[in-house]
Amino acid sequence: MKVKISFMTASGLKSEVTVDRGTNLLEAAARAGMAVEGNCGGKGSCGKCKVRLRKKLPGEPFDVEKKFLSPAELAEGWVLACRRTADEDMEVEVPEQSDAFRRKISLTEEEPAVELEPAVRKIELALEQPTVEDQTPDLERLLRRLPEKHVRVPLRLLAKLPQVMREDNFAVTAVVSAERLIAVEPGRTAERLYGVAFDIGTTTIMGSLHDLNSGRALAVGAATNPQNVYGADVISRITYASGGPDNLKRLQQKVIEALNGIIKELARKAGIKRHEIYEATAVGNTTMSHLFLGVDPTYLAPAPFIPAFRRAIAVEAAEIGLDINPGGQVVVLPNIAGYVGSDTVGVILATGLEKRRDRCAVIDIGTNGELALAAGGRILTCSTAAGPAFEGAQIKYGMRAADGAIEAVRIEDGEVILKVIGDAPPRGICGSGLIDAAAALLKAGVLEPSGRLVDPETSGAHLPPSLKARLRPGKGGFEFILAGKEIAAGGEDIVLTQPDLRELQLAKGAIYAGLQILLKDVGLTEADLDEVLLAGAFGNYIRKESARAIGLLPAIPLEKITPVGNAAGRGARMALLSKKERARAEALLDLVEHVELSARRDFQEAFIKALAFVSVKLL
Ligand code: FES
Repeated sequence: MKVKISFMTASGLKSEVTVDRGTNLLEAAARAGMAVEGNCGGKGSCGKCKVRLRKKLPGEPFDVEKKFLSPAELAEGWVLACRRTADEDMEVEVPEQSDAFRRKISLTEEEPAVELEPAVRKIELALEQPTVEDQTPDLERLLRRLPEKHVRVPLRLLAKLPQVMREDNFAVTAVVSAERLIAVEPGRTAERLYGVAFDIGTTTIMGSLHDLNSGRALAVGAATNPQNVYGADVISRITYASGGPDNLKRLQQKVIEALNGIIKELARKAGIKRHEIYEATAVGNTTMSHLFLGVDPTYLAPAPFIPAFRRAIAVEAAEIGLDINPGGQVVVLPNIAGYVGSDTVGVILATGLEKRRDRCAVIDIGTNGELALAAGGRILTCSTAAGPAFEGAQIKYGMRAADGAIEAVRIEDGEVILKVIGDAPPRGICGSGLIDAAAALLKAGVLEPSGRLVDPETSGAHLPPSLKARLRPGKGGFEFILAGKEIAAGGEDIVLTQPDLRELQLAKGAIYAGLQILLKDVGLTEADLDEVLLAGAFGNYIRKESARAIGLLPAIPLEKITPVGNAAGRGARMALLSKKERARAEALLDLVEHVELSARRDFQEAFIKALAFVSVKLL
């Protein structure tokens, strides 16, 4: 039996989905394209997947809900989506996530500067009508007028060719890409030629639709990666995929469904038909590339971390069920290594890293911190398991950058000043807020460089009373009240705990140490860097001073640190718009040297040193 679930946000964003009775609400939300955080993959251990049942209040809360939700939230009908099932038609409110998307989407709107030469092109042909003197068959009649000498023709097209050619008296438009006939359309349609570029993130998927005649971006869209119900990070998804072909298929279907949802939305916004999209490019980390193509990622997880492929892979859209023209080509850009994916290739394309003659590092801060360093004609890459702390996972009050997230923290004269996204009552803290908070606490003497929050009675005796009052015993040490319950949305104090700070130390230490190793391998130190580029939406929102103060970024002048936005997505768009850029991406495979950190003892040493909340040269 099917039930209908209407998801909505307080600001009026709506989406409906019909699912089998008994479907998990977290999964239903993902299917509806509504962003619900599910950092533990539905295990009931993160408490992030809060939704509110609107029509009917839930019965007695589960113990796990009592653990993560305040009494006020329980009374209002908030539940954990992963613990609840869709048993009848329901109305479910999901917390506002739009800002997280808006931040990411807005960054994809700048146009990459490329020479426009897409792989796919349209050729309008006014073919001669057959006569008794010219009995050339339809296919040969078409092919002899194409500039390409060897064109592969799918049976699917041949089957319909006689009708298509006669529909407009032998006036047709052929769509060709890489010596393959993608479509034949009646009449003249050359002006309608579109493509999509995707950045498939572990957490968020972004897509943009382009007019391939002008290169113009027509629409952008995003969705939560619905694979999150199988875990927040790539390792849990690899583990799930390794469970058998059905699991792998399920993960592939999830991501394809999300992409199809984005395509539908983009086509609607731009007023075009989905079959007029003839090409798609995609970047993502290596695991996402595998799962998107339905390729078994099992051997990516254990050492020696072997991917099934590295080179760019092109498939027909129909082969993977992507909802563009069925003959359209889908190209996944090349991966560099098991944990440095085509998203890094996209970043290198977009930043022109291999063309630079100075010393430049790119840091993509995410669940996997991916780093690239260009120096002395070499390009080195590595990845560090930074963990999902910057996405708000494993942080007690962590959340993504959505309305209600504390995004900036200052402490002035003993007073804590918060900046909350959407000027809403605070609900939690996002990655940029976390970095800011640590830097502010460090400066105020509330946090020691070792990462320990001070005891207000002993080591923190010097603090002003206003700050002392915010410190209280908590799990594993003291905790600091960032926002008191009187102003917080959930009616309970929003605190930064000692384990939260440990998570942050691990995340920032891994990234910093990774950079140190790359620098060491080319015989440089951070002082030699001419520029550090911060890739990823997150890089645009963190305060550079704070990131440097806690030792996430190297100790170089702030003017040498430049955010470059969603460079991975920009790289995907460049490869969509230009064959040359695609060739550049492929050439990077021979150029880039990958540094495997897990095999390096000096990385472990650098990591231990990099855990301290302090900005100094460490090696
Ligand atoms: S508690 Fe529901 S996804 Fe983690």
